[in-house]
Amino acid sequence: MTTAGPQAPFSVTLRNGRTVTIRPLDAGDNQALIALGAALPENDWLHAENDLRSPEMIARLINARSAEHWRQLVAVAPDGTIIAYASARQLPGRSSHVADIQLIVDESWRRCGLGTVMAREIVAQARALGAAKVIVDMVEEQLAGDAIFTRLGFQHEGRLVNHIRDRQGQPHNLLVLAYHVE
Ligand SMILES: CC(C)(COP(=O)(O)OP(=O)(O)OC[C@H]1O[C@@H](n2cnc3c(N)ncnc32)[C@H](O)[C@@H]1OP(=O)(O)O)[C@@H](O)C(=O)NCCC(=O)NCCS
Repeated sequence: MTTAGPQAPFSVTLRNGRTVTIRPLDAGDNQALIALGAALPENDWLHAENDLRSPEMIARLINARSAEHWRQLVAVAPDGTIIAYASARQLPGRSSHVADIQLIVDESWRRCGLGTVMAREIVAQARALGAAKVIVDMVEEQLAGDAIFTRLGFQHEGRLVNHIRDRQGQPHNLLVLAYHVE
């Protein structure tokens, strides 16, 4: 794992040749974040704890943008569209040394390296929060998320059987990946 500190805001050129900006979530991002949530495939809601389809949830995330225990990033396309969201949040109480991560990329921008760029930056942000341990969980079928975080040095630390249910009521296993900061 690279020990580089947080870099955002910064621009990066993806494998599709397009340059996007990674920056902290901003007070004016409400509508663009709702649009990202509305466009996500149904199955993605298996993977996300915060439902970006809910305007109330988005208002809550935007209100939390300056919270001391929370870091939130977006990726912005040249036309101003938000195409990815990532967060690192310090857990409360006895696990306050642990930060958990969420990451979601717009379907039409996947496989271009954006998930990897966002993951690296949000982990740097989690470390800057002072986290001694960083975790990310995902449904076991989520091969891309597993590949990204494993490459960053995360290891499988838990597998919770039939821990989440999809909209059809089918159970899925939840993988917990963790990175212990040296
Ligand atoms: C996981 C997610 C963020 C990946 O975003 P992305 O921008 O496509 O990621 P990258 O382009 O950086 O791909 C990273 C690697 O993941 C693997 N990968 C990506 N998509 C894959 C797929 N559909 N199947 C298998 N492996 C895949 C590849 O190894 C890829 O690297 P490569 O393209 O160099 O081979 C995106 O699929 C997503 O938003 N999924 C729903 C939410 C989620 O599951 N989040 C993760 C847990 S928080």
